Amino acid sequence: MKIAVTGATGHLGGKVVEQLSKEIDKNEIVALVHNKNHATRLIDAGYEGREIDFQKQATLVGSFQNIDTLIYVASKTYSVFDRVRELENVLAAMKENQVKNLVAMSFIADQEDNPFIMSPFYGYLPRRLAGTKLNYAIAKNALYADPLVPYLPELIERKGLIYPVGKQAMSFITLDDSAEAMAKMALNEEILKSRRTYLLTQARSYTMPELGAVMTEVTGHEIGYHPVSVEEFGKIYASEGDGDELASMYAGGAMGYLHGLSDDFAHITGHEPEAMEHFLKRNYRK
Ligand SMILES: NC(=O)c1ccc[n+]([C@@H]2O[C@H](COP(=O)([O-])OP(=O)(O)OC[C@H]3O[C@@H](n4cnc5c(N)ncnc54)[C@H](OP(=O)(O)O)[C@@H]3O)[C@@H](O)[C@H]2O)c1
Repeated sequence: MKIAVTGATGHLGGKVVEQLSKEIDKNEIVALVHNKNHATRLIDAGYEGREIDFQKQATLVGSFQNIDTLIYVASKTYSVFDRVRELENVLAAMKENQVKNLVAMSFIADQEDNPFIMSPFYGYLPRRLAGTKLNYAIAKNALYADPLVPYLPELIERKGLIYPVGKQAMSFITLDDSAEAMAKMALNEEILKSRRTYLLTQARSYTMPELGAVMTEVTGHEIGYHPVSVEEFGKIYASEGDGDELASMYAGGAMGYLHGLSDDFAHITGHEPEAMEHFLKRNYRK
């Protein structure tokens, strides 16, 4: 059996490879990497690395040989066109190589009237897969909890969260938990054959005052909630390159679209997801 993971040098894909290696032999795992220079750690650790470019179908066709199951972690782009082309290239290469099983990453913001600029892709993905003959399971992630850790010093300085989501709650999942669930989904025949979506969230969600209270407890600094407008949010983070894109995501959040709760994680893994308080305490360094 061979399981291949895309985005294997990235935050999520790297953790998926790590989680898979707890369950199966290294020689059953193929790390699909974009830039081999980013993959020296994986190659040195003994993983087979194959180079791909999602935008070049021939590279996918060549690299999907003798793969039984693909775990598709999408690239990080805010171009819906590029992302759809990426998926289409992946599906064509799977067909050519008769790869039968797919675990595909998705995101909670997939509603048809969601203003998040990538929501068209997340709406497209399940509908597109439903028209294939693949065995597939979709791992629909809530917001990653991990970026909150390096954000804490800024929040301490700001004395509060500023997400423009009003009174709405948001749901989170840690990268480790998402990766564990995705690895277990790829190894579970029943799940692979289910052709359905699994929503990966922590056991509870948070309004922003609730999240601020958890952060206050963890850091010992007062972190409240002082929301800015969607436009201001975009401007504040414009220098990071994706201010407007993130602002569009929180505009959806203000409509309740970053909220959802499910016990799929516990059903897949047999244990509870890591709670926000525990995760932040474990990772925050004063
Ligand atoms: N749920 C959430 O809250 C949340 C938050 C952030 C992101 N996401 C989504 O989660 C996914 C993974 O995020 P991440 O943080 O793990 O991203 P990341 O660390 O940037 O990793 C992306 C991976 O994709 C690879 N890649 C980029 N362009 C490629 C191409 N043309 N062909 C093949 N591989 C390519 C990168 O390889 P190189 O480094 O070698 O280019 C890298 O390994 C993304 O789709 C992102 O949009 C979700």
